[in-house]
Amino acid sequence: MNPRDSHPASLSRRGLLMASAAGLLVAATAGVAGAKPATTPAAAAPAGRRNRSLRIAHLTDIHIQPELAAAEGLARCLKHVEGQADKPQLIVTGGDLIMDSFAADEARTALQWELLTKTIKDNTGLRIEQTLGNHDIWGWNKSKSKTSGTEKLWGKQRAIETLGMKRSYHSYDLGGWHFVHIDSVQPDPSDADGYIGKVDAEQMDWLKSDLAAVKPGTHTLVISHIPIFSATAMVGKREKDGSLKIAAGLMHTDSNELRELFEKSGHVRAAISGHTHRLDRLDFRGIRYCCNGAVSGGWWKGPNAEATEGYTLVDLFDDGTVDCQYTPYGWQARK
Ligand SMILES: [Fe+2]
Repeated sequence: MNPRDSHPASLSRRGLLMASAAGLLVAATAGVAGAKPATTPAAAAPAGRRNRSLRIAHLTDIHIQPELAAAEGLARCLKHVEGQADKPQLIVTGGDLIMDSFAADEARTALQWELLTKTIKDNTGLRIEQTLGNHDIWGWNKSKSKTSGTEKLWGKQRAIETLGMKRSYHSYDLGGWHFVHIDSVQPDPSDADGYIGKVDAEQMDWLKSDLAAVKPGTHTLVISHIPIFSATAMVGKREKDGSLKIAAGLMHTDSNELRELFEKSGHVRAAISGHTHRLDRLDFRGIRYCCNGAVSGGWWKGPNAEATEGYTLVDLFDDGTVDCQYTPYGWQARK
């Protein structure tokens, strides 16, 4: 998302946001180290023993740029991951890897990607699986980016090629789990320079086939840039009549369809995201949804509300439960 879309801090740091009779329980600091975990019967671990299958690190909204020592910040974050006594086996990114290419010219865009790839190469040897965010798309704002749309690397192609991806979404198996990286960002049909959160028809067909082909006994984790379901999308200003409007770019507009698909699959256990640079956890109908802050905090200018600069340690267990622990890496914003 953009800094201008962010919401002011309006949640108490340790308080629960809401708990409805529908079984929705939300913790504003869910997963923050030291915070008491919130669980619902649907998402809680069963009474029996559970064994961890895998630990991963989720780094979202890095927003690397030459300014504000962002590359140094990412290096510190990666070293923090590498220095964990209980080290993750995999890094998954959550999109918005670079500060912005959506409205940036080619030189500025190329500079940011170079900075990202070099900083990653120099600071971690861990396997990394990437997710694309809105800021990773080159030139969709044609006037500001000074693009025509005919450039070879226009749109998602530059990120796909730079990151060595086959396409903007993908899946794989690891440690008894199936991982699905969704491409959340599609053109806004009402704004030629804008985007909305959803998967397109082709990706939805792929997703349905992909989930249907998961081997019995395997659990699935979904990673998206824009949240599929998040309390962080609900803390904005209310309309004059008191109703709440969630912007189409803030949370997946196909949230209901995706949640139904996940629930019907019987094996999707959690969906993690970024985009809002905020922290929450929702346990809803047996699936956990975590919005996991931002490596850049408030775009390298300090914390964004409750989300200080951090990443999330995600523990995946053999019973299908998922724990998210937000982990600040000790960054102080440079002025
Ligand atoms: Fe972002």
